Parts: sequence; structure tokens; C-alpha cells
Amino acid sequence: MNSRGRFPPGLAGGRGGNFNPNPNYQNRNYQHQNHQGQRNSNSNVQVHQQQQFQQQQWLRRNPGGADSGNDEVEKTVQSEAVDSGSQDWKAQLKLPPQDTRYRTEDVTATKGNEFEDYFLKRELLMGIYEKGFERPSPVQEESIPIALTGSDILARAKNGTGKTAAFCIPALERIDQDKNVIQVVILVPTRELALQTSQVCKELGKHLKIEVMVTTGGTSLKDDIMRLYQPVHLLVGTPGRILDLAKKGICDLKNCGMLVMDEADKLLSPEFQPSIQHLISFLPTNRQILMFSATFPVTVKDFKDRYLQKTYVINLMDELTLKGITQFYAFVEERQKVHCLNTLFSKLQINQSIIFCNSVNRVELLARKITELGYSCFYIHAKMLQDHRNRVFHDFRNGACRNLVCTDLFTRGIDIQAVNVVINFDFPKSAETYLHRVGRSGRFGHLGLAVNLITYEDRFNLYRIEQELGTEIKQIPPQIDQAIYCQ
Ligand SMILES: Nc1ncnc2c1ncn2[C@@H]1O[C@H](COP(=O)(O)OP(=O)(O)OP(=O)(O)O)[C@@H](O)[C@H]1O
Ligand SMILES: [Mg+2]
Repeated sequence: MNSRGRFPPGLAGGRGGNFNPNPNYQNRNYQHQNHQGQRNSNSNVQVHQQQQFQQQQWLRRNPGGADSGNDEVEKTVQSEAVDSGSQDWKAQLKLPPQDTRYRTEDVTATKGNEFEDYFLKRELLMGIYEKGFERPSPVQEESIPIALTGSDILARAKNGTGKTAAFCIPALERIDQDKNVIQVVILVPTRELALQTSQVCKELGKHLKIEVMVTTGGTSLKDDIMRLYQPVHLLVGTPGRILDLAKKGICDLKNCGMLVMDEADKLLSPEFQPSIQHLISFLPTNRQILMFSATFPVTVKDFKDRYLQKTYVINLMDELTLKGITQFYAFVEERQKVHCLNTLFSKLQINQSIIFCNSVNRVELLARKITELGYSCFYIHAKMLQDHRNRVFHDFRNGACRNLVCTDLFTRGIDIQAVNVVINFDFPKSAETYLHRVGRSGRFGHLGLAVNLITYEDRFNLYRIEQELGTEIKQIPPQIDQAIYCQ
């Protein structure tokens, strides 16, 4: 048997042992492979639109450039100035350490664009590079140039492939920082995702003078009202709170030309859709709407037909599941689940894990059991006080604890790079939920493992979800090769 297949003794879920919240936890030097030209999903129309856009941008930034086409001297001087300028600002960038982990084609199969191809403001480019982004991912290549032209977009791309920056970058580019009005609203379904997304906007826009505000339920309305007396250009939040502020006339959306709906299918579920429709009525009629998700059930079509105009549809999901995630199931009885989890903890090389349960009660019970077993664990669900939720989210992200037990509150959008294992302690009911849950590991094309505890009652669901996703969830073998989820 392959010796790599054996679980190293004592490596386990680390009973209090140290682990590394740094994503480079295996620190193997796998080369970032750029499979240029492998993907061929863009139509001629899009290429044309992109070229047209780039020409327009070039002309906008170089007035007279077209007329002075024959003036070679002027051209050379100009390009030398640009070149030496570009060297200066690039040399001064504070780049984070490179992430040397292996990445799958889900993020490397690009057309070979560079962020500079989009003629973004230099301050924005600086934020992008300082966040550690070297090149746009496939969904960013498709979305950024189109969003910059002002078109409505419905984009579907796999989990963890960079949808957030695919809308944040054009949003930040299109904001006029001299106009002190809300110009962009980004809607997300959960408070934690709102915090995470506003943080991404702040980081990408850190060299711009753009004011980002986050507003969600569970926080003081009065504080939000006070904050809105100050300039805000970009507002990120959950629909209920933003609608509340808009209805009270405190949050003025009449100049908001861009509405982003992240996890758009979730935002169109019955629980949110009425608020979304009401919110749209506060926006100008010529607004741009960008919808992003990894899953778009047919119900989204009605909304798209009603509210979006000449929508540009991007679909990068020729298959649904991520190439980097290996999925297993373990057939167990309900009363054996905790024992099975204990075995997983002792056998797997968990850097950080997220463990999903199907109810608030079960989250709390399981968290207690895990602690009794002697493993470190946090838990989070929507019935906790917001301050407490924020602390758990912040501390888990910073690596204060190895395991997090949660409800579907953390199923969508949450991005914690160090998570390499997801465990469905309770199996989900829908294929969408399953896909988003397992997508919490294997972020940005990295490797990950999903283990599903399956009871007799779950067996039909397992089969149905496998069919719906066109994927294979294999029976868990006695040994799991670390190479499939740890490098
Ligand atoms: N161009 C890039 N280069 C390197 N890393 C990137 C790039 N774009 C995004 N990332 C990183 O990839 C990770 C996943 O990005 P993001 O959260 O936007 O994925 P997503 O597509 O929204 O996933 P989900 O469907 O789960 O919401 C983040 O940690 C982000 O910083
Ligand atoms: Mg996302």
C-alpha cells in the first residue's frame, strides 16, 4: 500500500495542538499553472465588446491619442512616461507572501488577461495587487470588462473562484469619489457575508478615497443613521436593514446606479424577494444590476426577465462541483455519528474544518460533545447575539480554533482559506445547499475534502443529490491519501 496513505499517528484534529491559519500550510512549491487559452467559453460578441471597451478606455485616458497616431515621437515619450511610472508604483507595492499551494483549472484556466488590461484606476490596481491577486480568475475575466460597460449581468461560476472581486472591482472603478452619494449597493443574504464583503471592498479600495459602509440587522439602527450623515459611496448589507433605512428616507438610493446581488438565488427565495423588489423601487430606472451565484434555479429567470435589461449571461459551470474537492460518505446510524466524527478527527489531517448540522439545537449539542471529546471547537448559528457571532467569525478566521460547528448560516459565500475539510454531520436536503456547503473548502482552486455522514434515511437524498450535481460521492476508504486535500 502507498505509504502516503497512512494517517500519521497523533496528527489528528489536533487536541489543542498548534496549526497554521496561514493558507500555505503545506508550503509545497507547486507551480501556479496558467492554462492559457484552454477555456473557450467567450463568444465573438464578447471579444468584440471587450475590445471596444478597451479602445474606449484607452481613448478616454489618452485624449488626442487617436489623432496623434502619426506622431511617433509623442507616442514614445508617452509610453516611456507610462512605463517608468508603472515601474515606480509597482516597486512600492506591499505584496503579501505568495500562496504556493496547488490550484486547479477551476481558477487557472484563464484567457491570460492581466488586471492592467482593464485600464483600471492605478489606486485600484494597487489594492488588487496588494491583496495578492496576480491575474484575474476566469469569472473575473468574463465579468469585469462587461460590468465596466454598464451592462446588466447574470453570472454563474463555481464556489471560491473569485466572484466577489468580479463585482467589487468594477463597482470600485465606476464610483466617482467626488460625488458624496451612495452609488453602489451590494446585497448579500447573511450578516457575516456582509462583513466579509465590505472588508474585501475596503481592502481592494484601500488606496482610493471611497467610503464603504456595512449595515445589517442585529446592530444599532441609530449608529447606522448617524453614519449615513457622513459620506457613503458604497453600501454593503442585508436586504431587510437597507430597506428599512431606505423606507425611513435615511438612506438615499436615487443616485445608486449599480445594484449587486451576491448569492442572487438565495436573495430571490421567498424570505427575501419581497424586500428586494421593494428596494429596487428606490433605485433610478437606469440602474445596472449584477447577479452572481454558483447556483441559479429556474425561479431566477422570472426576476431576470422582469428587472434586468439586455442581460449579459455568463455561465462558467460546465460541471457543478469543484475539481479540487474529493467527496466521501460514511454510512452510519444516528447514534454512531459522534463516534464517527471522533474517528475522522483522529485520522484526518485537518487544518481547519467546518462541520454542518441541520438545526440550531444540534449545533449546540454537537459542539458540547466535541469539546467533551477533547477537541477545540467553536460554534455559530443565527440565534446567537450578533456580537457573539462576530467574535466567533473573527476568531475562527484568524485561526483561534480548528473546528467550527454551524448551521446553514455559513453555507454561502464564507471564505476562510485555511479550511481544508468540510463535514456534513447532518446531510443537507437540497443539492444547492450541498454544493455551497462543500464549497467552503477548496477555496480559489485549492484542494479540499468533504465527508458526509449518511444515515439510512439520507440514502435517497444522497443518491438524488449525486444525480442532480452529476458528481460521485464515494464511500470513505479506511485510509485517505493526504495528497488529495492537503497540498
Ligand atoms: N484573482 C485572484 N487571485 C488570487 N486569489 C483570488 C483572486 N480572486 C479571488 N481570490 C481569492 O479567492 C478566494 C475566493 O473568492 P470569493 O470568496 O470571491 O469566491 P466566490 O466565487 O464568491 O465563492 P462562493 O461561491 O463560495 O461565494 C478569496 O480568498 C479571494 O481572496
Ligand atoms: Mg461569493
